Amino acid sequence: MMQLTRLLLALLLATSTPIVDAKAPIVIAHRGASGYLPEHTLAAKALAHGMGADYLEQDVVLTKDSIPIVLHDIHLDTVTNVTELFPDRQRDDGRYYAIDFTVAEVKRLRATERVDAKTNKTVFPRRFPPHASHFTVPTLAEELELIQGLNKSSGRQAGIYTEIKSPAWHRSEGKDISKIVLEVLGRYGYREASDAAYLQCFDVVETKRLRQELNCRLKLVQLLGANNWKEVDSDFDLEELARSMREIAKYAEGIGPRMSDVVRGRGTDGNLIVTSLVAVAHQHGLVVHPYTLRADALPGYSESFDELVKHFSVDAKVDGLFTDFPDQALRARNHHLPESKATEDTSAPR
Ligand code: G3P
Ligand code: CA
Repeated sequence: MMQLTRLLLALLLATSTPIVDAKAPIVIAHRGASGYLPEHTLAAKALAHGMGADYLEQDVVLTKDSIPIVLHDIHLDTVTNVTELFPDRQRDDGRYYAIDFTVAEVKRLRATERVDAKTNKTVFPRRFPPHASHFTVPTLAEELELIQGLNKSSGRQAGIYTEIKSPAWHRSEGKDISKIVLEVLGRYGYREASDAAYLQCFDVVETKRLRQELNCRLKLVQLLGANNWKEVDSDFDLEELARSMREIAKYAEGIGPRMSDVVRGRGTDGNLIVTSLVAVAHQHGLVVHPYTLRADALPGYSESFDELVKHFSVDAKVDGLFTDFPDQALRARNHHLPESKATEDTSAPR
C-alpha cells in the first residue's frame, strides 16, 4: 500500500511539476539602469543598485591625463554637451575624443541621454529627455566608490562588470588602458577570481594578454561581435564553434555574445530557434552573458519583455543577461525561475 502511494505521488509530481533545469541568470545593469536615466551616470548606477541588479556595468576609456572614465565610446559628442563648451576641439573627422581632454575638462561637461552622431536625434525616444539634466561623466574610481558605498549602506553586494574599450586604439595613442584599469580595480580590492567582478573586452588579443601577460586573475569574459563561424541552417558549424570555445576557454571564464547569436528568431513552425552556442560554451566550461535585452527594442519573436527574458533564461539557459531595464529583468527572471530567486554568481557554469 505504502509503495503504491509512493508510486502515485511520484507520478503526480512528474506530471504536475514543470522540469526546470535552468539556473537563474545574473542580471547585469547595462551602462546602469540606462532605460531610465542617461547611460553611465552615477544616477543610473545608483538606480540599478537600488533595483537589485546583480552586477553594474562600466565601459571605460582614458582621458588625456590617463584617468579612466566611465564612457561607452572613445568619443564624447553623443552623450555630453562637449560641442557647446569646446567647439574648437574636434579632430579632422569632426568627432570629440575623450583622450584629447583632461579629466578636469571632462568634469565640466554635462552627461546626457544618447543622441545619434549623424542626426543628433535621441537614440531611444521614450527614455530620459536629452540635455535636460545636470549629470556628469564619472571616473572609474568615483563609480567604484559609489558601488562600494551602496554595498555597505544597503547591505546588498552588487558586483562590477568592467569593459576595457578599444585597447588597440588607446595603444596607438600611446596609452596602455588595460594596465591602468587593472591598477584602479586593484586599488578598490578587485583582484581575484572570487571577487564580485568581471572584466570584459571585445579585443581577443587584449583579453588573452590580460590573462597571460598582465596576470589578471579576475573573471574574464570574451565579448563577441559579428561572429566568425560558418552558419548552417540557423545554427553554426559545430566543429568550428567547438574549436573557438576551446580556444577561448584557455584564457577566459565566459563569453558575451550578441542576443542574435543565441536566439535566432522563430522557425516556420513558430518554434523558437535557439542556437548551439550556449550548449557548446557550457561544454567547455564557459559562462554565457548575451547583450543587450531592451524593453523598448523588442525582437520580433518576443511579444513582451517578460517573454524575452524567459526565452533567454529558460529556453536558452544563459548564465547572465545584459539589460538596460534591470528591474523588469529581475521581475521576469524571478517569475520564470522562482526557485533560484536569490542572487547567485554563476561564474561556475552548470
Ligand atoms: O559589454 C556588453 C555589451 O555592453 C557590449 O556592447 O557596445 O554596449 O558595450 P556595448
Ligand atoms: Ca559594454
